Amino acid sequence: MRVAVIGAAGYAGGELLRLLLSHPDVTDWVATSRSQAGKPVGDVHPQLRSLTDRRFEAVEPAEAARGRDVVFLALEHGESSKVAPALFAGGAGLVVDIAADFRVADEALYAKYYGAHTSPELLPRFRYGLADVEGIRLRGATAIAAPGCFATAAQLALYPLAGIPGLEPALFAVTGSSGAGVQPRPTTHHPARAHNLFAYSVMGHRHEAEVLSNWRRWTGRSDASARLMTHSGPFVRGIHLTLHANGAAGSRAAGELYRSAYAGRPFVRVLEQPPELTHVVGTNEAHIHAVASPDGSEIQVMVVIDNLVKGAGGQAVQAMNLALGIDERRGLVTGGIFPC
Ligand SMILES: NC(=O)c1ccc[n+]([C@@H]2O[C@H](COP(=O)([O-])OP(=O)(O)OC[C@H]3O[C@@H](n4cnc5c(N)ncnc54)[C@H](OP(=O)(O)O)[C@@H]3O)[C@@H](O)[C@H]2O)c1
Repeated sequence: MRVAVIGAAGYAGGELLRLLLSHPDVTDWVATSRSQAGKPVGDVHPQLRSLTDRRFEAVEPAEAARGRDVVFLALEHGESSKVAPALFAGGAGLVVDIAADFRVADEALYAKYYGAHTSPELLPRFRYGLADVEGIRLRGATAIAAPGCFATAAQLALYPLAGIPGLEPALFAVTGSSGAGVQPRPTTHHPARAHNLFAYSVMGHRHEAEVLSNWRRWTGRSDASARLMTHSGPFVRGIHLTLHANGAAGSRAAGELYRSAYAGRPFVRVLEQPPELTHVVGTNEAHIHAVASPDGSEIQVMVVIDNLVKGAGGQAVQAMNLALGIDERRGLVTGGIFPC
């Protein structure tokens, strides 16, 4: 399998390269970067020095994509919309975008959170790649929008609850600093984040758009709500999310609901106790704990993921595996790096 990673110098691009360079079916790869063109990949991503001595290419995305079976886009928001037409025109086999450009098919919902879409005609080409929920339904896809990191944790918590009438869950989530990308900003660099905790994007984080889109589809209620409350935490990798909902009376035992929803899904592990963030760092796993109050009227669900693996590169590779009809675990089964 010949792959290209466009925008490979960022954090998500680096994680994609880490996984793809060890993927047993990847026979050739190219990594492009505008800012790091010509530099050895191992200089920009020192953790990959043992895997390659190749350099970043400066070529245009369409040229990098020529003859490739799979093209991953790891660009900042808005850039994928600009390059996708040329990729499709060039006959790219499978395009996997990890930015937000094509995650929300509903133009009005997209516009509420991101502003008017610049390439709405391309939206129908993309399938939403929530790999642990979609599974083999992704087979044959030619364009996949990989979900956002918060959105992945939120939807893994929400999906099993869709059959309970009338739930309006609230989702409280804390992310590590790598979620903000490689360029330091006043609210994301180390002195502002270490030993600190604060909310941001209050009452309207962008990932809420894709969460609502699917929560409404799963519940069949076009006005269903699911509020996402996002926070910046004092760690580098990972997302810890807690869902709380009232009105869950009559549901089966909470743990059983989740075990049944994710039966046979290789990367979702339903635990008997609250999960810990560091136990999934470096892995493509989601660890979940779900519990109902004794009277069944209230439910709490905790989810932990690595934002750069399950929330970005790992999920993208899993979606690729599923789309191409190969074992979804290929290149993704690894232990974590606890303690970290
Ligand atoms: N970080 C996450 O946890 C996460 C999770 C899911 C999805 N995503 C999405 O994935 C996309 C990329 O996110 P990211 O976190 O990887 O962003 P990032 O670290 O800021 O990288 C994005 C791009 O910034 C450019 N860049 C500019 N200066 C750079 C420098 N000095 N060193 C390295 N790269 C530099 C690179 O492209 P050029 O070199 O070509 O300029 C790179 O592709 C975004 O759309 C994001 O929303 C991110």
